[in-house]
Amino acid sequence: MRDALLKIQEEALLKIQETEILEGLEGFRIQYLGKKGELTKLLKEMGKLSAEERPFIGKLANEVKEGIEEAISNRKKILKNFQYQRLIEEEKLDVTVNKPMAKQGHSHPLYQVMEELENLFISMGFSIVEGPEIETVENNFDKLNAPKNHPTRDLSDTFYIDKNLLLRTHTSPVQIRTMMQQKPPIRIISAGRTFRFDDVDDTHSPMFHQMEGLVVDENVTMANLMHTLDSFIKEFFGKEMKTRYRPHYFPFTEPSCEVDVSCFKCKGAGCPDCHDTGWSMELLGCGMVHPNVLENCGIDSKKYSGFAFGMGVDRIAMVKYGIPNIRFLFDNDARFLKQF
Ligand code: DAH
Repeated sequence: MRDALLKIQEEALLKIQETEILEGLEGFRIQYLGKKGELTKLLKEMGKLSAEERPFIGKLANEVKEGIEEAISNRKKILKNFQYQRLIEEEKLDVTVNKPMAKQGHSHPLYQVMEELENLFISMGFSIVEGPEIETVENNFDKLNAPKNHPTRDLSDTFYIDKNLLLRTHTSPVQIRTMMQQKPPIRIISAGRTFRFDDVDDTHSPMFHQMEGLVVDENVTMANLMHTLDSFIKEFFGKEMKTRYRPHYFPFTEPSCEVDVSCFKCKGAGCPDCHDTGWSMELLGCGMVHPNVLENCGIDSKKYSGFAFGMGVDRIAMVKYGIPNIRFLFDNDARFLKQF
């Protein structure tokens, strides 16, 4: 019996010592110490022992039992610790690693300009509205007082989708959408993409950007228009900038003007950039909203008047940053874009 006990002890301790599987330890406990375990079975035979042998074997059996329990508990601690270390190793995150930062982009120079323009007009009490890039012929032309045979509807400079739809040729149809939905007082701006069948050159592209402005209220005059635009230009480009209003024709305004701004290079003195004129390229069209346009939108032109303006955002960005060619804005070459 003594030998059998020592054999169980030796075998059990060895197995426990060698196992690498934490969950397996419970199996060993059942195998040796459980109700039907090897040690338990052996102890059931204690009755067969003589009176002298019994205390001695009983004591040994207890030592074996405690030894196995202790071995299981020690091994459990060790394996748990291993498992923990392995987890730490696998999930290690070295926050001190010095990796180069991922390259971070920024908003496109054109959109920077657009946002700056919007913020400026917001500060003057305008609100922003949006319009679709695919427009109805009616909003893009008819309601803007450019009837059927008007030259601006020419097939050669307009992208028609079908008889009634086109890619908007300007942001002015947003005026119509606004006046159809909202009654005066109106004070809005709207910026976005516009499309014309233009050949590409330094200052033209078939896709370009405009920002439209519209103010309608009682007693709105040309003086209000000029004051608004002058304030905007001085705020945006600098106090020393001068403006010049040249008479022009647009079907949706009467009277209409084009606005020149002092050359940004020479500030009006004359230089090769402005062909010695002292004025920069054409940036803005504007005028007093034609009464027909107000009436087309159900606004009483006897009671209300308004002014409107439209500017080329690409050109404003070119002038502001000294970009010589509009194509740079759309090539999306990172070497160019990262300068802004
Ligand atoms: N829509 C004109 C264009 O594309 C620009 C323009 C001129 C807009 C006068 C206006 C305006 O609102 O009043 O050339």
